[in-house]
Amino acid sequence: MNYSILKKLLFSMDPERAHNFAMWAISTGLVRSATVTSPLLRTSIFGKEIPHPLGLAAGFDKNATALDHWESLGFSFVEVGTVTPLPQSGNPKPRLFRLQNDCALINRMGFNNDGVAAIANRLEARQTRIPIGVNIGKNKWTPNEHALEDYANCMRAVHHLCDYVVVNVSSPNTPGLRDLQSADTIMRILDKLVSISTRTPILVKISPDSHDDELAETAIRAIESGAAGIVATNTTLAREGLSMAVEEDGGLSGPPLASRAAAVCRIVRQAIGPDPTIIGVGGIDSGQVAKERIDAGANLLQIYTSFVYRGPNAASEIVGELEGHFSPSS
Ligand SMILES: Cc1cc2nc3c(=O)[nH]c(=O)nc-3n(C[C@H](O)[C@H](O)[C@H](O)COP(=O)(O)O)c2cc1C
Repeated sequence: MNYSILKKLLFSMDPERAHNFAMWAISTGLVRSATVTSPLLRTSIFGKEIPHPLGLAAGFDKNATALDHWESLGFSFVEVGTVTPLPQSGNPKPRLFRLQNDCALINRMGFNNDGVAAIANRLEARQTRIPIGVNIGKNKWTPNEHALEDYANCMRAVHHLCDYVVVNVSSPNTPGLRDLQSADTIMRILDKLVSISTRTPILVKISPDSHDDELAETAIRAIESGAAGIVATNTTLAREGLSMAVEEDGGLSGPPLASRAAAVCRIVRQAIGPDPTIIGVGGIDSGQVAKERIDAGANLLQIYTSFVYRGPNAASEIVGELEGHFSPSS
């Protein structure tokens, strides 16, 4: 499919309206792409074989409404959510902004989602066999002292319905959430979640904005407490690498995030050693950047923003480009 006409239409719309329209088109099967398989890129995710390492990042299919369609858009796995125990509407609109000169986005969605019960029902009803992760968070009104119960409630509702769970302690759009990244708090959350299920791999999604030492400490403690890996990274509050000043508050994603997200992968890999899984995410928009992220220590990769800018073929194109970096002639 040629994306240029559809992109013109989508980019003429308010970004969140365009997102909802795209989700509708995807969930009805109107938009498809080539599926990619590559012997050179075959890998696995928590014991399940997948054709390549590229998945869809959290936040795009927040409510798990298009589960059966991501494979036909070339993704080998998908992370839904962030989901909270109770439904919540998120921050006031507008809350999603395009930075077209930089192929970037700023969002301050604030965990708008249908709540974990609705998402669990959709997970149960799915037909697709591609691996699915569920990214869990706390409701906005839950004070940090009680956040543990929110994560535990989400875990109880979905652990048997998915392939992995991600503890989101790194969104910049829920006040105080990033404070939960402290090594002690992460240990308490992990202890609790592991007591609910030892079978479902649990990962922790971290922020690119913490200091290197803190990131290493958080990652080490998470793994010591039973986490199977780290998702690096969420969006950034930094505004480096932009071609023009932007006033909007929120998390920045896309190419300006790439070098910091890669640095965080390197720091985390160094800290946790070769075995735990790292899902590398942040600014991956080409096979070259994908290859660099693998070189930085990621086993698996995810995209969000480049899917918006490159369109339905983003995953298959990036995987095709990545394969070029692994082929014997390259
Ligand atoms: C509009 C939008 C909403 C997002 N929502 C979530 C979310 O609910 N939970 C989460 O963990 N990450 C969320 N993210 C972050 C992405 O999963 C990803 O970590 C980040 O965008 C960096 O990847 P990218 O540069 O490929 O977009 C969101 C990102 C965007 C742009």
